[in-house]
Amino acid sequence: MSLVDDARAVRENAYAPYSNFKVGAAIRATSGTVHLGVNVENVAYPEGTCAEAGAIAAMIAAGDAEIAEVAVIADSPVPVSPCGGCRQKLAEFGKGDVRVTLATTDGKTRQTTLAELLPGAFDRHQMDRA
Ligand code: THU
Repeated sequence: MSLVDDARAVRENAYAPYSNFKVGAAIRATSGTVHLGVNVENVAYPEGTCAEAGAIAAMIAAGDAEIAEVAVIADSPVPVSPCGGCRQKLAEFGKGDVRVTLATTDGKTRQTTLAELLPGAFDRHQMDRA
């Protein structure tokens, strides 16, 4: 099963009663283990969380902390674009050349990388004088 297939399967479990926009995310860690996440909305809208954040939380809880590959899928006309906050969250745990596959449920895909998603990322070395 590909990482997109993993994201597609978990997407079914998303909790998105307010937007009706279900998103699934799958992260393969450098250990080889795949960690899954979905968006989890809340009646207090800003409390909702994205699928990518859920997959990162699952990865950290499982004891992995280095991303090897990412897949995100939604029922969108074009492959869904991770929000700015999720780009920063993903960048925390993966090198710039990590492959990210963005997919639609009807089979369109866009290949990108963490560096392309977040050019000029703020990273820990910018705090070297602190
Ligand atoms: N969403 C994600 O989970 N990931 C993305 O990459 C884009 C947006 C969610 C947040 C919210 O639950 C719904 O999609 C609509 O914005």
